[in-house]
Amino acid sequence: MIIVEESIVIPRQDQEKLKEEIDRLYSKLSKLGWTKEACESIAPYTLRINSIKKEKDMKIFAHSYQTADIIFGIADIVGDSLALAKRATEVDEETILLCGVDFMAETMKILNPEKTVLVPQRGRDCTLADSITGEDVRKLKEEHPGAPVICYINTNADVKAESDICCTSANAKKIVEQLEEETIIFVPDENMGNNLAKLTGKNIITYHGYCRTHHALTEKRLEKLLDDTPMKTFAHLECKPEIIQNVDYAGGTGDMHRYAKIAKSGEKVLFLTEQGFIDRMKIEFPDIEFQDSNMICVSMKRNDLPTILDSLENPKPENTIQLDEETRKRAFKAVNNMLKY
Ligand code: 13P
Repeated sequence: MIIVEESIVIPRQDQEKLKEEIDRLYSKLSKLGWTKEACESIAPYTLRINSIKKEKDMKIFAHSYQTADIIFGIADIVGDSLALAKRATEVDEETILLCGVDFMAETMKILNPEKTVLVPQRGRDCTLADSITGEDVRKLKEEHPGAPVICYINTNADVKAESDICCTSANAKKIVEQLEEETIIFVPDENMGNNLAKLTGKNIITYHGYCRTHHALTEKRLEKLLDDTPMKTFAHLECKPEIIQNVDYAGGTGDMHRYAKIAKSGEKVLFLTEQGFIDRMKIEFPDIEFQDSNMICVSMKRNDLPTILDSLENPKPENTIQLDEETRKRAFKAVNNMLKY
C-alpha cells in the first residue's frame, strides 16, 4: 500500500473532492478486491496528478499492462500498442505522458516530433526492444537481399529506421499477408515470426528475440491454468508456437479486448497475456469470468503513482523522450506505413 507523504495531504477545503475521488476509485478498484482504505491511500495522488494534467495541457496514455490504479485513476487513453500509437496522432494536447515502456513513448515521438513525450522513469525496458540493434538489421538485409523487413513495434528507433514497415500484434498477420514477397525478414520476436509463418504460409526469416513474460509460458503451466474447466482460450502472439496451437484464438490485447466485448455473460475466459490486462478486463466486464494468468512484465510494473507524480513535479532530463532527427525521420516511414493497417 502507498504511504501518503506529508506534502500531498489534501487541504481541508478540498476534503469533499477527496471523498468523491475515493468513491470514484472504489467503484472501479473494489472489483479487484481493493478496500476503501487502499483507495484512500492513493486518492491524494490521483487527485494531484489529474490536476497537474489539466494545468499542463497534457494527456496521459497507459498501456493495458499498467496497474489498475494507473489505468482507472489517471489515464485518459488506455489501449494496446497500435491504439496508443494511433491515438497519439489525434490528441490536441502539447504533452503526452506515457505509462508503459520506452519503445511505446519513442513511437509516439517518432509520429509527433512537435509534441513533448514524457515517461515517468527510464532504465529498464522491454526484452524484445533490447534484443536487437539497427546494425543487426543491416546484417540480416545483407544476408537476405530483396526481402522486406517488418519490425515489431517492440523495438527502438534505430531498428525501426532500418525497416520497411512496423507492425503490432494487432496487424502483423494482415501486413505479412498483404506484402507481395514470399520471403520476409521479421524482427525481433522469434515466437511471433514462427507463429506468423504458420498462420500465413510465408517464409519468415526470424531473429532470436523474445518477450520474457510470454516466452516463459509453458504447455505444462497452460494445462494447470485450464484446470479441467471449460473456458475460451486466447493467447498473445508473443507466446511460443506450441501454446498458440493449443488455444482457440491468437492475437494481441486489442483483439482480446474486442473478444471480451462480445463474450457471453458468465463465460469463462483465459487470456494468456500480462495480468494487468486481465485486471483491466475484470473491471470493465464484471459479468465475465476471467481466469488470472499471473504473467507479470516487470518493466511495465516499474511505474507507480508516486513515481509518476514525482516525474511531473520534479522532471529530470531523462523523463523527456529525445530522438536523433535523422533516425526519427527514417523510422517515421516504417511507423507511418503501419498506421495504414
Ligand atoms: P499489445 O500491442 O498486444 O498490447 O502488446 C504489447 C506488448 O508489449 C506485449 O508484450
